[in-house]
Amino acid sequence: MCKKLILVVYLLLHEGVFALRDVKLTIPAAVERGKQAKLRCNYDMEGDPLYAVKWYKSDREFFRYTPLDIPPFKQFSTPYINVVENLSNGSFVVLNNVSLESSGKFSCEVSADAPSFYTVDAVGILQVVEVPKEGPIIKGLKSRYRLNDTLKAECTSIKSHPAANLTWFVNDFQVDPVHLRRNRAHLSPDGFYSPRLGLRLLITKQLFVNGRLRIRCLASMHDIYTKSSEISVEIEKPKLRYKTTPLPIFHWEDAQPAERYPHTTLIFAPSTNHKPSVGNSIHSKLFLVYLPILVRVVYILR
Ligand SMILES: *[C@@H]1O[C@H](CO)[C@@H](O)[C@H](O)[C@H]1NC(C)=O
Ligand SMILES: *[C@@H]1O[C@H](CO)[C@@H](O)[C@H](O)[C@H]1NC(C)=O
Ligand SMILES: *[C@@H]1O[C@H](CO)[C@@H](O)[C@H](O)[C@H]1NC(C)=O
Ligand SMILES: *[C@@H]1O[C@H](CO)[C@@H](O)[C@H](O)[C@H]1NC(C)=O
Ligand SMILES: *[C@@H]1O[C@H](CO)[C@@H](O)[C@H](O)[C@H]1NC(C)=O
Repeated sequence: MCKKLILVVYLLLHEGVFALRDVKLTIPAAVERGKQAKLRCNYDMEGDPLYAVKWYKSDREFFRYTPLDIPPFKQFSTPYINVVENLSNGSFVVLNNVSLESSGKFSCEVSADAPSFYTVDAVGILQVVEVPKEGPIIKGLKSRYRLNDTLKAECTSIKSHPAANLTWFVNDFQVDPVHLRRNRAHLSPDGFYSPRLGLRLLITKQLFVNGRLRIRCLASMHDIYTKSSEISVEIEKPKLRYKTTPLPIFHWEDAQPAERYPHTTLIFAPSTNHKPSVGNSIHSKLFLVYLPILVRVVYILR
C-alpha cells in the first residue's frame, strides 16, 4: 500500500517534470533584406508557470522574455539584430530591418518556473535574401524560325543573393532539363549572383500554336519573389521562289547554298558555316554595304 502511494506520487512528480512539451521554432524560409522577420516559438506549458523564453542567434542570447519581471523584455546588443519590442511577446520575436548578415542559426529556449524548472529549446535557420532588382532578361531569340532550326536563348537574372532559380517554359510547359544549359553563377565582387540558364530547342511544327511559340523565363526565390519575361516567336513561312520575281527579296537568314543564289555565295557563304548567331549583326551590316553592289552584279550578269 505504502509502496503503491510512493509510486503514484513519483509518477505525478515525473509527469510534472515533463510538463513542458512541444517546443517548436517557426521561421519563414526566407526574408527579404530590409524587411521584418517574425520568429515564432511555440510551446505547451501544460499548466506549468512560464519562467522565461530566451532567444539566441548562433548561441548568443539577444532577447529574453520573463513575464514576471518589469519590464518583461530584455535585449542584449547583437550585431545585425534589432528586436521590435512592442511587437514581441512570449511567443513571437519580430526583427526589424534584417540584413544578409542577420542570417543564421536561431534558437528559443523555454524554461518553466518552480517546481519543475524544466528547459527545452528548438532551433531554426533564418535566411535573409536580396531579390533581383529587375525581372529576368531573355537574350538570343530571333523573331522567326524555320522548321529544323535550333532555337538558342539565354536567360539571366541580375544580382541577387543567393542565386535566383531560373526555369524555362515553352507554351506554359516547363522545359525538360535535356534542353537546358546551366552555367555556374559566380559571386561578383559586390556580393551578388547573376545566374544564367541556356535553352536549346529543335524547331518542330508541333511547338507552334496558331503560328506562334511562346518562350518564358521565370526567376524565383523561395516563396518571396517570382518574376518572368516572355517572348513569342513565329514560324517562318516558305519563301517565294527566285524565278517568280526578277530580283529576289533577300533576307540575311535566307543565305543558301550556291545552287540557289549563285552570285551571293562567294561573299556570304564562308562565314555562315560557323557562329551564325554571333555574326548576325555584323553580317547584316555587311549585307547593307554589299546589297547595292550585289544588285548591280545581278543586273550586269543578266
Ligand atoms: C512600436 O514602437 C515604435 C517605436 O519604438 C513605434 O514607432 C511603433 O509605432 C510602435 N508600434 C506599435 C504597434 O505600437
Ligand atoms: C504576440 O505578437 C505577435 C506578433 O507581433 C502577435 O501577432 C500576437 O497577437 C501577440 N500575441 C499576444 C498574446 O499578444
Ligand atoms: C538597416 O540596416 C542597414 C545595415 O544593417 C543600415 O545601413 C540601414 O541604415 C538600416 N536602415 C534602417 C531604416 O534602420
Ligand atoms: C526537317 O528534318 C527532317 C528529318 O531530318 C526532314 O525529313 C524534313 O524534310 C526537314 N524539314 C525541313 C523543312 O527542312
Ligand atoms: C531553388 O530551388 C531549389 C530546389 O527546389 C531549392 O532548394 C532552393 O532553395 C531554391 N533557391 C531559391 C533561392 O529559391
